[in-house]
Amino acid sequence: MSQVTVIGTGYVGLVTGVCLAHSGHDVICVDIDPAKIAMLASGTSTIYEPGIEDLLRQGIDRGNLRFATPENGWRDLIADITFVAVGTPMAANGAADLSAVRSVVEGLVSAAERPFTLVMKSTVPPGTGAALAERFLSDARVAISYVSNPEFLREGHAIDDWYTTDRIVIGTNDAAAEARMRELYADIESPIIATDVSSAETIKYASNAFLSTKISFINEIANLCDCIGADIDAVSRGIGLDTRIGSQFLRAGIGYGGSCFPKDTRALDFIATLNGYQFTLLKSVIEVNNRQRLLPVVHLLHALPDLHDRSVAILGLSFKPNTDDVRESPALDIVPLLTEEGASVKIYDPVAHDVQIPGATRVDSVWSALEGASAAVIVTEWEEFVQLDWQHAKTVMCMPAVIFDGRNCLDPLAIRAAGLTYMAVGRDGAHRGA
Ligand code: UGA
Repeated sequence: MSQVTVIGTGYVGLVTGVCLAHSGHDVICVDIDPAKIAMLASGTSTIYEPGIEDLLRQGIDRGNLRFATPENGWRDLIADITFVAVGTPMAANGAADLSAVRSVVEGLVSAAERPFTLVMKSTVPPGTGAALAERFLSDARVAISYVSNPEFLREGHAIDDWYTTDRIVIGTNDAAAEARMRELYADIESPIIATDVSSAETIKYASNAFLSTKISFINEIANLCDCIGADIDAVSRGIGLDTRIGSQFLRAGIGYGGSCFPKDTRALDFIATLNGYQFTLLKSVIEVNNRQRLLPVVHLLHALPDLHDRSVAILGLSFKPNTDDVRESPALDIVPLLTEEGASVKIYDPVAHDVQIPGATRVDSVWSALEGASAAVIVTEWEEFVQLDWQHAKTVMCMPAVIFDGRNCLDPLAIRAAGLTYMAVGRDGAHRGA
């Protein structure tokens, strides 16, 4: 079993730490935020992720999952295998902001007193490993092996994805480091792609860019369906059954959000431009996604020309179900546009409680959000909304009321049978209403 340190306890770092501990490795999770570390050490997860708290508690009880801050320096925290899993948020120019990564790597390199393997789990653009090696590792007093080991974890499914991944990517030019990584992941049945650092980094970005492309593509087809009166559900099924295309990521709606696709597509476009390449397709994918998230506003203004003094319910704030993560959620763009139009907006999300959007009111039940509302926008396909009693919704909403199903997750017939106007994305010309 390996000695492992994971630096950063966000959505990726925490999953990495608890899962490696669950596999029997001896793990220390490190974060600069003492409040987070105290909470995690007491067995309470700092993120909403199904299954994580059980694994967290098991690891603490077994004694092979510990937590620390770097307040006393990095030296004693460096393990044989040290993961960097800190955030790489989007900078104002679209590039990935690597300041946290650089600061951690610099700290580790200057504190290291014995050789170790430095594993980059943070999503860093192609070329970053080479740049870090030149800037920091070449001056190190001890031998540091660098490995790019990107993650393919979906929030909300991250624990399952860890154990049932389609592939493990190990990017390094150091054979011994590759062997250590293979040993670390020995209990996971998966093909391993062993390659160089830049190719590993590119696999991560190309994967997210391709999945984003699939989403923007199906959204364009859905918009076309609305123009010609075709049904995107049938079209998605019909093309997805072709195994060369595949049925996943063909759900049309108001586009992708989250901490990964918006940031990674922008960063890949940035890095392509910086290297003299115009990635035309990717630029279009981003543009389509930006436009797609405005659809609810466009169609509500069409259905209810004057939103002044009307109440609109926003159902869902997280960028997808089963997470409390609201980063790049379409709601963050939709709500200000509705309030600018004079609507009074009430937001309900079953899990993402802590976020406020200026001008909108947070409510603590779906029924409070719908009470008196002339329209409801489904931003997140939480099961609670899919299972809602829409007959009852009609009795609390201000009729005639419109439901804009931004995730194509409701049964149009049931909504219409309840006497509500149903609008969606590419469903049977649905934006024209019933
Ligand atoms: C994504 C990738 O799926 C992971 O493989 C990757 O590791 C992760 O980013 C990352 O880079 O860290 P995640 O952002 O958690 O994972 O969520 P997804 O399930 O991929 O969904 C992303 C967005 O696309 C969501 O807003 C979702 O609603 C949207 N989406 C997804 C669609 O609009 N249509 C679809 O058919 C699928």
